[in-house]
Amino acid sequence: MRKIKYTLFSVTLLLFLLPTPAKAETFGLETLDLQYIEQGWGEAHANQSVDGHPMMLDGKRFEHGLGTHANSTFRVALGGKAERFTATVGVDDEVDKKGSVVFKVTGDGKTLWESGVLRGGDPAKDVSVALNGVKVLLLTVGDAGDDANYDHADWADAKIVMAEGKPEAVAPVREPAVVLTPKATPKPRVNGARVVGVRPGSPFLFTVPVTGERPMTLSAAGLPAGLQMDAQSGCITGVLKEKGTYVVTVRARNQQGNAERALKIICGDTIALTPPMGWNSWNCFACDVNEANVRAAADAMVASGLINHGWTYINIDDCWEAGRDADGKVLSNQKFPDMKALTDYVHSKGLKIGLYSSPGPKTCAGHEGSYKHEELDARRYGEWGFDYLKYDWCSYGEIVPNPDHDALMKPYQIMRAALDKAPRDIVFSLCQYGMGNVWEWGAQVGGNCWRTTGDITDTWSSMAGIGFGQAGHEKFAGPGHWNDPDMLVVGYVGWSAKVRPTRLTPSEQYTHISLWCLLCSPLLIGCDMTKLDEFTLNLLTNDEVLDVSQDPLGRQAGRVASDGSLEIWAKDLEDGSKAVGLFNRGEDQTTATLKWSALGLSGKQSVRDLWRQKDLGGFADQFQTEVSRHGVVLVKVAPVK
Ligand code: GLA
Repeated sequence: MRKIKYTLFSVTLLLFLLPTPAKAETFGLETLDLQYIEQGWGEAHANQSVDGHPMMLDGKRFEHGLGTHANSTFRVALGGKAERFTATVGVDDEVDKKGSVVFKVTGDGKTLWESGVLRGGDPAKDVSVALNGVKVLLLTVGDAGDDANYDHADWADAKIVMAEGKPEAVAPVREPAVVLTPKATPKPRVNGARVVGVRPGSPFLFTVPVTGERPMTLSAAGLPAGLQMDAQSGCITGVLKEKGTYVVTVRARNQQGNAERALKIICGDTIALTPPMGWNSWNCFACDVNEANVRAAADAMVASGLINHGWTYINIDDCWEAGRDADGKVLSNQKFPDMKALTDYVHSKGLKIGLYSSPGPKTCAGHEGSYKHEELDARRYGEWGFDYLKYDWCSYGEIVPNPDHDALMKPYQIMRAALDKAPRDIVFSLCQYGMGNVWEWGAQVGGNCWRTTGDITDTWSSMAGIGFGQAGHEKFAGPGHWNDPDMLVVGYVGWSAKVRPTRLTPSEQYTHISLWCLLCSPLLIGCDMTKLDEFTLNLLTNDEVLDVSQDPLGRQAGRVASDGSLEIWAKDLEDGSKAVGLFNRGEDQTTATLKWSALGLSGKQSVRDLWRQKDLGGFADQFQTEVSRHGVVLVKVAPVK
């Protein structure tokens, strides 16, 4: 009896001393820190779709969950303590049966569940996977192989059951921001485009970009009659009456020395002979743009020295428009009280200025568009003194809901004809997100560039998805007509008065600039120009990198090799050498090998690192280098002399 009592006592004591098993707890995915979600467009929302509406899948409303957009990545640390992940997934009803996505659940690198392709309007799918032992859960939404347009994806009712502890959102890896661009020397160096186009009779304005200590004296030998250069600013102005090609020798002199370089001025039918470089208001201010921040951008372009590297255009995007006056002339809103004074101001700084409209009745932000007023508007832009027009499809979709090839071209042909009548050169930038393979006919309708994709945002999935998605478009670009994979997302961006640093990591930013230069994309800085930090300036002032973009041959890079997450893109340059980007789209640093055979080369080649502006030596057969996660090594390859 005593023995039994004793045993009972021991068992009770043991139970008391043993840790009580923790009660499993369930966490809604939307309760985690959503700032770490990387996605291709917009911002992720808790309990709402990516557009901020109540979550709806196939007619059913969900109170809880996460609204995101392909391509989307969300990493969650579970510490091996989770039991199960459950959710209902699909494309949110807000996109009205458009879009197509693939949801994927990965645990410690192993695929645990995949949805298959889900299109807008498809029934939602339930997912329930065991997570026992999983340390890092990765939730991704891919674009299903087409592009990410309309891919509004909901992880509805998404829950993680934890045996103990809490799930924690994981911040993407961020390496230190290392400045690679060497400081400009005090001696003069002539930078930027080496060829510039103008039409006969149009006002000419080109500031020769020169770095080096000021004061500096500039001159241009061999300028044709009608043009003159300002010796202090290096700005060439005037008018050429006759067509012709003029090779001018630009000279720069300061106390440290001299520099000279040839500049070719081609007076003919074609402008934008190299990809336009400048700034646009959208990625920073969106509809909070106003005259003060446009003037400030122009001031900063000069004060920061960016003008000395070829940056030229100051472009106002949407949200400047009011209605029309009694004669049908478009009016600027109260944020832009005097357009002519503004263009004069920007021109007085040796810069050019651009504007935005839509072929539809309304712009994307719902302001006055140019529909049925194209001639009047083009004349107005000319009178005001604008040099660039971004022409954005948007509500034209309501005029022609299912446009065929001709209907896609028509509004751009109409505006082209109108711009041709303006007594000045206006770069014509088509924006219709790549519909109907615009790259195949953008040049034919007189576009100087055409957007090939939807809007960019400052995430790896957006930037890389767009940039590396340009493969195959290279045959359609050339001097005067360029593919446009959208504007830059480095520096302080935010699509509102409230800007924040880009979410791209430093390596991703090097990739962004290198790729856009290789792609001959228009280079339009999208950040608040009054907040240019040292790292951002380093990205925008590397003359050897910018020379890749501005090379007179105007050949867009193509992808010449790929191996898993490594991609090699190469661009022919006028001097017979090649600019080559070795990109690592993977999650770990890797060794990349560039074989001369991939470039159609053999024998010994010299390699120069363009970001570091450093010769790396001569190499037989191939060149190998380490490339950081999401990073690039950009080199110039030329036969050894
Ligand atoms: C569209 C364009 C953007 C921007 C906005 C303005 O979304 O693609 O680049 O111009 O319109 O409303």
